[in-house]
Amino acid sequence: MSLLFSKTALGPLALQNRLVMAPLTRNRATGNVPNELMVQYYAQRASAGLIITEGTSPSPNGLGYPRIPGAFSAEQVAGWKRVTEAVHARGAKMFMQLMHCGRIAHPLNLPAGARVLGPSAVAAAGEMYTDAEGMKPNATPQAMTGADIKAAIAEYAQAAKNAAAAGFDGIELHGANGYLIEQFIRPNSNQRTDRYGGAIENRARFVLEVADAAINAIGREKTGIRLSPFGVFNDMPVYPAMEADYTWLARELNARGLLYIHLVDHSPMGAPPVPDSIKAMFRSVFKGALILSGGYDAARAESDLAAGKCDLIAVGRPILANPDLVARWKAGAAVNAPDMSTFYTPGPKGYTDYPVLG
Ligand SMILES: Cc1cc2nc3c(=O)[nH]c(=O)nc-3n(C[C@H](O)[C@H](O)[C@H](O)COP(=O)(O)O)c2cc1C
Repeated sequence: MSLLFSKTALGPLALQNRLVMAPLTRNRATGNVPNELMVQYYAQRASAGLIITEGTSPSPNGLGYPRIPGAFSAEQVAGWKRVTEAVHARGAKMFMQLMHCGRIAHPLNLPAGARVLGPSAVAAAGEMYTDAEGMKPNATPQAMTGADIKAAIAEYAQAAKNAAAAGFDGIELHGANGYLIEQFIRPNSNQRTDRYGGAIENRARFVLEVADAAINAIGREKTGIRLSPFGVFNDMPVYPAMEADYTWLARELNARGLLYIHLVDHSPMGAPPVPDSIKAMFRSVFKGALILSGGYDAARAESDLAAGKCDLIAVGRPILANPDLVARWKAGAAVNAPDMSTFYTPGPKGYTDYPVLG
């Protein structure tokens, strides 16, 4: 009896199985607006229980990468509505991942008038691809003023409302992988001396105010969050108080009654391992649903579900390369390998043309 492929509930939502499509940035949203190609891509993968969209910006300021979608204009909402309709028609529920890139950005990727922002004027090591000029060093962000912080929180709240208006079942705050929310949580990127910097109570103020604003906008049963404790992606080094900080954060998120926490583990992609103890801590402190991700195949998914380590399993590369992953894993069939060269390129190649079982 498979747990992975049995129906379950996520808060008020009935899911057709426990397999989640992890958020995957694919850079097909030319002009930052969801299009027909994206409708097709997501619909192909809607035999999952839950689909979480690619990182989607709540603000023009958050569009750090080329061709990522937004959730702040009427045109974007209309585009996303077509996506949710197609996905719902095939049985999956769908959440929008709200990703404000913050300092992981280059001005060449931003629309006119938008600004690269961060908690402090500290650039992330590394480079950013731009359509106009190829690879460029990550920009040095402008340190956000109190007014910038207020405005960004309001943008998250409005984007959550826009997601609901576009037919999404909820939103996932991207608090992982070195983007704006994590830039506030971590001391290397947050060197503020006001109430948003310093002790964890202050560094976590932004994420908690964003969570409160989203809850206010659409409800706690529609609000989840993704976190990457011990994640180092986008120049986010591990520091001594990491476990204590995330334990404090888990308690605060639990007190707010969020629908779920979704933990990232990028060790299968070559990142340092995430200690099992921190996953177990989240499981015991947080009473909502827990989603684990990173390097799962069907057997490991079944085993972690059976052991009660989590409620749902999210997969990235397997479902990217196998639109019919549920059917393949159910049948024990071979799977397509992902083609990394087309992860972020425009057009249908490596996006909507992966073969399905005959
Ligand atoms: C092409 C690609 C794009 C990704 N984009 C996002 C994203 O937008 N938001 C996010 O939280 N994680 C993103 N991730 C991370 C995945 O959600 C997932 O955590 C990672 O692929 C590990 O899971 P897997 O081993 O099942 O692939 C991305 C990963 C890949 C390969």
